[in-house]
Amino acid sequence: MNHAKLIRGRLLSFKRAPLALTDIESYRYEHDGGLLISNGKIAAAGDYAAVKAQAPEEIEEIDHRPHLILPGFIDCHMHFPQMQVVASYAGNLLEWLNTYTFPEECRFVESDHAARIAAHFYDELLRHGTTTAAAYCTVHKTSADAYFAEAMKRGMCMVGGKVMMDRNAPQGLLDTPQIGYDETRAVIAEWHGKGRNHVAITPRFAITSTPQQMKAAQALAQEFPDLFIQTHLSENHEEIRYTGELYPEAKDYTDIYAQYGLLGKKTLLGHAIHLSDREADALSEAGAIAIHCPTSNLFLGSGLFPMKALMRRDKPVRVAVATDIGGGSSYSMLRTMDEAYKIQQLLGERLNPLESFYLMTRGNAEALSMVEDIGTLDVGSTADLVVLNAASTPAMQLRMETIKTLPEELFLLQTMGDDRAVVETYVAGMARKPVERGETAAASA
Ligand code: GUN
Ligand code: FE
Repeated sequence: MNHAKLIRGRLLSFKRAPLALTDIESYRYEHDGGLLISNGKIAAAGDYAAVKAQAPEEIEEIDHRPHLILPGFIDCHMHFPQMQVVASYAGNLLEWLNTYTFPEECRFVESDHAARIAAHFYDELLRHGTTTAAAYCTVHKTSADAYFAEAMKRGMCMVGGKVMMDRNAPQGLLDTPQIGYDETRAVIAEWHGKGRNHVAITPRFAITSTPQQMKAAQALAQEFPDLFIQTHLSENHEEIRYTGELYPEAKDYTDIYAQYGLLGKKTLLGHAIHLSDREADALSEAGAIAIHCPTSNLFLGSGLFPMKALMRRDKPVRVAVATDIGGGSSYSMLRTMDEAYKIQQLLGERLNPLESFYLMTRGNAEALSMVEDIGTLDVGSTADLVVLNAASTPAMQLRMETIKTLPEELFLLQTMGDDRAVVETYVAGMARKPVERGETAAASA
């Protein structure tokens, strides 16, 4: 059982989206903070001495000073079967999918392979301080079984789905409208609501689903209105052109998903880079979420996501941030936000470090409608935490000597930080030992 503990350190969490670097009302910072954790939940949070006064006398204490303690990072779009696709040398999205990604995903029909990669996947998330993610499995039910079984072992809050795809891919990666429907239902029955698992209806994108399969996805969305829907939207110009050919009756790419009833508040749309005004309005009206995947967008040359422009429209688009492993090139949300910052720079926009840290934590939790459980340090939420050290390398340590404010420290963490900055990750109050010690590698050999 998960015994009570008191964790001490510099607490940082967000109350809402920061409006500016000077918006001190948007966050809570406790320089000498304490978190009382009981049964995996945050039972008290605030000034260390005050929290300690509420704690049982013999309680275990863990002192993380001078490090920062934040809600665990959340990654809203990734592909667990693409761990061995990262760093594949392709010119663009469709070439990358056809040459590397689809062949690799075929291997997940084997449950042993799926289970092995799932173990590595969660090791890697935790090593990088990520405690919740929304991921695609493959078309094979075996991959979803492995994904959710491993999440339960680790007590993690995860969103995932068996991919539905019935055309434009190798034979070993195709289902049919009926099989996609039946197997998604089976995954829901077996895994949804077990542990902290959330099943998502997951048509990969319009190119790989026939209109008949879109109808099957629509039927699932109607039967299970509380489930997430995840898919890809407007990532690459060639993809957009081909999609238009396949769905000639649709107004645009977004309209395809709208026509099949797949656009709502729980719809997670990967990329959404090249949207028209009409499409951005449609996303805004539906409350659907555009998920920025900066390292992937740069790596595949897909384009520059106008995040700030979408956020400040008259009809704002909800946005979230993600790695998009294996189109993305890092598991680290710190590396991800560094690239997000640079993309906004190229667009003549500023993304301040408070906004970045908000997005990685509370912002992404709001995108997933999970802010009661994750993304904050509020009493009652689950103790999913990341502990960060902004002086984790010699160069960062030297730079820290001249840093005076919290936003500066966060900006350094984002600009130079990676998995080395992650001192510890807690899932439901339990510290996880990083795979870098070789424990997992040895166990699976
Ligand atoms: N579009 C359809 N499938 C994929 C995928 O696996 N990765 C990315 N980045 N885009 C996609
Ligand atoms: Fe993706």
